Amino acid sequence: MKILLSGGAGFIGSHTYVELINAGHEAVIVDNLYNASEKVLERLETITGKPVTFCNADVSDKEAMRAIFAAHSFDAVIHFAGYKAVGESVRKPIEYYRNNLDTTLTLCECMREAGVRCIVFSSSATVYGPIETSPLVESMHPLDCTNPYAWSKSINERILLDVCTAMPDWSCALLRYFNPIGAHESGLIGEDPVGVPNNLMPYITQVASGKRERLNVFGNDYNTPDGTGVRDYIHVVDLARGHVAACEYLLSHKGAEIINLGTGIGYSVLDIVNAFQRVNDVPVPYAIVERRAGDMDSYYADPTKAKTLLGWQAEKTLDDMCRDSWRWQSKNPNGYRD
Ligand code: UD1
Repeated sequence: MKILLSGGAGFIGSHTYVELINAGHEAVIVDNLYNASEKVLERLETITGKPVTFCNADVSDKEAMRAIFAAHSFDAVIHFAGYKAVGESVRKPIEYYRNNLDTTLTLCECMREAGVRCIVFSSSATVYGPIETSPLVESMHPLDCTNPYAWSKSINERILLDVCTAMPDWSCALLRYFNPIGAHESGLIGEDPVGVPNNLMPYITQVASGKRERLNVFGNDYNTPDGTGVRDYIHVVDLARGHVAACEYLLSHKGAEIINLGTGIGYSVLDIVNAFQRVNDVPVPYAIVERRAGDMDSYYADPTKAKTLLGWQAEKTLDDMCRDSWRWQSKNPNGYRD
């Protein structure tokens, strides 16, 4: 298959690129490098041993996207491009809705013009809303979202479901990611947050490397075994393989499917800290602080549908996730900015 990866230079996009090439597919990366580095491209060439086809374009730029669709014969699109910071989305809702919806609509228009009918969308478990009944199943009726980022994912899902209803020869997978961490085992690509990390694992790796003094654990009075928040952490390479499986599935199936990509296993913040320290033999000083607004006790997937429909399940362990996150951080103390 030949696949367009919108936002393919980002954290999940770059790992998906590698797994697509490993599986014998062709991929074209379209990214405006707003939140990604050009260095990713040479790293991808090193990992795969093949030249990367890259288009520096904004996915909401219709003319640029038309030209890309005209130059290639795509079988499918995987749509990663979008803004992704929860806190920033609260401060900049207009920018978030404009960007995260325009990119999807432009892609859909270009796909229709070019006769491309398969799309995999990068959604998030955040669309389930503040629900307290894990494991989360795709058939659950989601509660209201709690921030514009989450709403933008939810509205994108709605758009793509409606598109598939109106055009029954289209197929679409809405992949709801749980908490992606880890990095490619080469240590050449990984997550590269700008400024102070919002998410747990990038914060831990920066504390372990001495860049930050200590981890603030947001609350230890949750209704969980050790009182700290429980999440479904998934290795980014497993997640990437889930996209390959979804693309392959879509080629022979019509209609839209919502699919969780998680492990089904919940780990607490302290489970992660302890595993990280043990596996990497490095200390992670931490302090328990106030709860972070909006956080929930437990949030983990029922991953049954992905297994049944796609034949995919996560294979990597928490130890793999901790080891690979640390290798990436150790080899690239300043991310791609070295
Ligand atoms: C967050 C986003 C979610 C997004 C996901 C991507 C929020 C409210 N939700 O999920 O929309 O899809 O990231 O991975 O931001 N923690 C600490 N100290 C820290 C950072 C985190 O104790 O410095 C704890 C949190 O309280 C939580 C767990 O670690 O219990 C995971 O937090 P995080 O990595 O931010 O992910 P989520 O909040 O689950």
